[in-house]
Amino acid sequence: MSVRHFLSLMDCTPEELHSLIRRGIELKDLRQRGILHEPLRQRVLGMVFEKASTRTRLSFEAGMIQLGGQAIFLSPRDTQLGRGEPISDSAIVMSRMLDAVMIRTFAHQNVLDFAAHSRVPVINGLTDDLHPCQVLADMQTFIEHRGSIRGKTVAWVGDGNNMCNTYAQAAVQFDFQLRIACPAGFEPRREFLELAGDRVTLLRDPREAVAGADLVSTDVWASMGQEEEAEARIQRFRPYQVDRALLDLAAPDVLFMHCLPAHRGEEVSHDLLDDPRSVVWDQAENRLHAQKALLEFLVAPGYRA
Ligand code: CP
Ligand code: NVA
Repeated sequence: MSVRHFLSLMDCTPEELHSLIRRGIELKDLRQRGILHEPLRQRVLGMVFEKASTRTRLSFEAGMIQLGGQAIFLSPRDTQLGRGEPISDSAIVMSRMLDAVMIRTFAHQNVLDFAAHSRVPVINGLTDDLHPCQVLADMQTFIEHRGSIRGKTVAWVGDGNNMCNTYAQAAVQFDFQLRIACPAGFEPRREFLELAGDRVTLLRDPREAVAGADLVSTDVWASMGQEEEAEARIQRFRPYQVDRALLDLAAPDVLFMHCLPAHRGEEVSHDLLDDPRSVVWDQAENRLHAQKALLEFLVAPGYRA
C-alpha cells in the first residue's frame, strides 16, 4: 500500500477522522492517568517550520517524546531548503532518514510536492490554504464537550483564511452546517465553497451567522505572511469582532473556539477567551492528543486495530 499523508482533512474518510478523535480522547485519558504509551520508540519525526509556531511545534515535539520517539526541528534558515535545494530532492533525502515529516509552509503546493517525493507520511502543519491538524483538535474539543457535531451549526466569523477553508472541509467530513460571515473580498476560495456545497452559507452579517449557532469560531484578521496588510485589515474587519454580546445571539450552550494566537481587542474582545463559553485552552491542549493519535495512525498503523 502506498504511504498515507495528512495534508488535508480530505485525506481521511469520515470514519477514519472519527476514529482519530476517539483515539485522541483515549490517549488524553492515558496521559492523565500517567500510563506510559510508547508505540513510536526509535521513530523520528522531522518538523520543517517556514513560519513561526508555538502550539504546533510544542504539540508535535512533546507528542513524539510521549509516544517514545523523538522530533527534530528544522528551520529553513539552518537547512539547505533555505538555500534553494529543491523540495523534491529534500523530500527524498529526509524521508530516507525519518519516519514522518511535518511541514509548516506558505504555498500549499510545497506540501503536495514534498509528499509526492516522500516515502514516509507527510503531515500538513499549516499552509496558506489549510490547517487540518488544528481543525482535528477543534472537532475533538467539540465532541468532548457536546457529543456529535453532526447536524449542528457552526459559525465562522472573520477572514476566509486557511482555518475557514479547513472548516469548509470539516463541514463535509463531519456533516455540519457552516455559516461564514466575512467582508466582501475576504471569502474562502471558491473550490472550498464548492466542495462544501449546501453545507455552507456565505453571509456578510456576523449576527446572522451566529444566530442559534452551536459553535462559533474565529481567527486573526491577518495571517502569517500578511503582516503588511494588517493595518488595513483592522479597519475592514472591525465589524467582525466576536464579543460577549455577539455570542449571546448563539445557542445557550454555544462553544467559542479560536485556534490561537489571538489578538485580544481585534478579532476577539479582551474578555472573550476567558468567557465560560470559551474552550480555547482545551482546544489548544487537544492539539497534543489529536496529533498523537494521528502520529500513531500514520507511523505505526498496525499498532492498533
Ligand atoms: N494554532 C496554531 O497552529 O498555533 P501555532 O501557530 O502557535 O502553532
Ligand atoms: N490563520 C492563521 C492561523 C495561525 C495558527 C495563520 O495562518 O497565521
